[in-house]
Amino acid sequence: MNLIILGPPGAGKGTQAKRLEEARDLVQLSTGDMLRAAAGTAVGKKAKAAMDRGEFVEDEVVVSIIEERIGLSDCQRGFILDGFPRTLAQAKALDEMLEQKGLKLRKVIEIHMDDGVLTERITGRFACAACGEGYHDKYRRPRVEGTCDACGGSEFSRRDDDNEEVVKARLGAYHAQTAPLLPYYRARGVLGEVDGMNEVDDVTRQISQLIDGA
Ligand code: AP5
Repeated sequence: MNLIILGPPGAGKGTQAKRLEEARDLVQLSTGDMLRAAAGTAVGKKAKAAMDRGEFVEDEVVVSIIEERIGLSDCQRGFILDGFPRTLAQAKALDEMLEQKGLKLRKVIEIHMDDGVLTERITGRFACAACGEGYHDKYRRPRVEGTCDACGGSEFSRRDDDNEEVVKARLGAYHAQTAPLLPYYRARGVLGEVDGMNEVDDVTRQISQLIDGA
């Protein structure tokens, strides 16, 4: 089963993709994570400059990353695209890729959110520097202050693009360039919407219903 999770920055795409990965034995493919992991390379450095401004990385770069990744054997069991596609050009490139590989999209899930809540969600977010476990200043603090619940690590980090000014630019890019994908996928009958303003467990339930009802 191959899925896309769409939604503005901070909507919970990563949170829900990780849950789906575990529950459904799928592979999470987050272009944001992949670009951050490439930070030491020339491509990664160029991408970081765009990401730090809240702008999208060039289509050709992310398309080639995804093309290479979905060709690997683990993706044969199914994947969740988290943060890709983000432009119509990326969506069309994905269509071609899937057709060439004989793959189908089961569902495109839009996590719908009010912009106002997103800034608070994103600027409060931090993660364990050792294992990546995610936390939030207000909504999810470690059980023991300063110690990661998952691995016991004591170093935490925040993303360079998780500040108010850059979040504004990221939201602008989403509305201008990614929102047009909603009618694109709706017209094909694969789009389903969930309310991202609800609790995490509730959003997970809504997503499961959409997938299983498909
Ligand atoms: P990326 O890393 O994909 O960032 P994003 O889309 O801005 O999304 P986030 O990771 O910030 O949020 P999320 O929706 O995953 O939410 P999360 O689950 O973390 O991309 C970063 C940059 O890379 C882009 O700006 C761009 O420059 C570049 N890029 C990436 N892909 C690209 C592409 N295809 N083309 C071009 N450029 C690309 O949740 C957020 C917080 O809220 C967490 O603290 C979480 O615990 C909390 N939370 C989640 N759900 C809930 C809930 N229901 N209730 C309360 N809290 C919740």
